[in-house]
Amino acid sequence: MSTADLDALIEQAQTQFAQSDTPAALEDAKARFFGKSGQITELMKGMAQLSVDEKKTRGAAINQAKQAIEQALQARRQALADAELARQLQAERLDVTLPGRLRQPGGLHPVSRTMERIEAIFSSMGFDVADGPEVESDWHSFTSLNNPPNHPARSMQDTFYVDIKDEQGQHYNLRPHTSPMQVRYAHQHVKKHAALNAAGKTIPDVRVIAPGRTYRVDSDATHSPMFHQCEGLWLGENVSFKDLKYVFTNFCKTFFERDDLVLRFRPSFFPFTEPSAEIDIQFASGPLAGRWLEVAGSGQVHPNVVRNMGLDPEQYIGFAFGMGPDRLTMLRYGVNDLRLFFEGDVRFLSQFQ
Ligand code: PHE
Repeated sequence: MSTADLDALIEQAQTQFAQSDTPAALEDAKARFFGKSGQITELMKGMAQLSVDEKKTRGAAINQAKQAIEQALQARRQALADAELARQLQAERLDVTLPGRLRQPGGLHPVSRTMERIEAIFSSMGFDVADGPEVESDWHSFTSLNNPPNHPARSMQDTFYVDIKDEQGQHYNLRPHTSPMQVRYAHQHVKKHAALNAAGKTIPDVRVIAPGRTYRVDSDATHSPMFHQCEGLWLGENVSFKDLKYVFTNFCKTFFERDDLVLRFRPSFFPFTEPSAEIDIQFASGPLAGRWLEVAGSGQVHPNVVRNMGLDPEQYIGFAFGMGPDRLTMLRYGVNDLRLFFEGDVRFLSQFQ
């Protein structure tokens, strides 16, 4: 191969390297020169047949060509790597002049605020705060509350049933009210004071509220299939309807922070209380003035329920109530659609922060 041929070979390599746009294409091009039967490789092999003198001149020329092609290869590799880096830098470019993303502080849900308020007010009146299961046995949701299977009053609290049966062969349910907590809590209380009870001594009053989630087959602007209730129970040797009136009136005035508020106990029916009453409130002023608004069900605990708590109804008497914190929240903030509470729209929720 003449010197001119070697120059042409170098040029050929330079052109092919320049035309390789990717590292893989460049490696292919390299193979055509330095591969097993690449052109440079062949030239090097051919050197063996040359005489000593020829080796000196031809060999040097071939070596030079080889070096030149290696340099061209190296230069192209570097160029491709630089281009790739530039591309990456461009793609991952950070605009440091962009304003930062503001993190909005979160806040309590309006119903949670109401729950906390209810707990604080009743705690200050000496009530314990209890928590219980939302998937409840038939016994706790109904039967223990003087509402046996097939009783027509069960339809007032139609709920969702779970495909698991309790010991009596009845389906578990999503509790339709917090009233099961009356029996659950009173039972615990009686157990705790079993020694006093056995000795015929009076046990301390049962005084508790039980806030939580409840479920019913109901859905419109003022009813949601999942909603909240807060149960209240005060049981002792000498607790009467008068105490219920006092406690609940005091609670409402504190909760709404107003004194111009009146309560009405409207006769009603619940299997677990006798007599029973719905509690309505009315504001003397403001946008809701003059309207009666139902906020709770209540009544004197039925003797059968007292018995199911493990207490003697001849000795222990008291009252219970179940109120709707969602309703209280609507009244306190002037919200007219219950569903807004459960849609999770921050535009709505952030107004309560
Ligand atoms: N559990 C009743 C309801 O959900 C409310 C209530 C509670 C009534 C306690 C009386 C006593 O409607």
